[in-house]
Amino acid sequence: MQIVILKNAAEVAAYGADIFEKQLNRKAESVLGLATGSTPVALYQNLIEKNKQGGISFKDAVTFNLDEYLGLEGTHPQSYRYFMNEQLFNHIDINKDHTHVPPGNAKNPVEACQEYEAQIAAAGGVDVQLLGIGRNGHIGFNEPSSGLTSRTRVKTLTKETIDDNARFFGPDEYQPHLSITMGIGTILDAKKVVLLATGENKAEAVKATVEGPLTASCPASALQLHRDAVIVIDEAAASKL
Ligand code: GLP
Repeated sequence: MQIVILKNAAEVAAYGADIFEKQLNRKAESVLGLATGSTPVALYQNLIEKNKQGGISFKDAVTFNLDEYLGLEGTHPQSYRYFMNEQLFNHIDINKDHTHVPPGNAKNPVEACQEYEAQIAAAGGVDVQLLGIGRNGHIGFNEPSSGLTSRTRVKTLTKETIDDNARFFGPDEYQPHLSITMGIGTILDAKKVVLLATGENKAEAVKATVEGPLTASCPASALQLHRDAVIVIDEAAASKL
């Protein structure tokens, strides 16, 4: 595990974006694993800027997002499909048919999970997987106690995660308690993994991830098993190391 500690969130975003720039310039048809949440937004802004200036192209790239709420259509403003369109895909030269987010409206979610795994495999596997981290150490929607070899599946969200994400939903708006998420095993299959964390409220989760022990109680600690995992954090998120 490589730990990169930078001054602030802006530097973390720029560092993360540079990893994606290098990847795309090395291999135009890269398979990128993408994440939602507030942390990657600044990285996506960097990528949009680099794309506008001609430094990178997504024309031949393929993307797979980590997770999606089960029960939301992709047109729902709180769906992760909608988030990705708004925050990245609508602003870059990617072919939308090459962007994948687990289907939150799947009639048969179990089959949809298997299909998602098959699509990743058919694309040749993920080259670089971006991750944020939940306060409880979750990655994607792999909540504590998730199997360390798990594959894409339906997961129930913990109360902590539902509460943390409630800020995005209106007071009377339906907030899903279920998700489809890549498994920890799926994430570990990526050739490279880049986890971003900023702010003091992530410091505890970062400490558990980096200093161990390796345990399903902190799903992100599974990254200790990965041969090319980079943890990019600001000083606040590093404050408990
Ligand atoms: C959600 C997502 C995670 C993300 C986490 C943290 O639960 N499923 O992929 O890492 O939120 O989000 P934030 O970056 O907003 O703290």
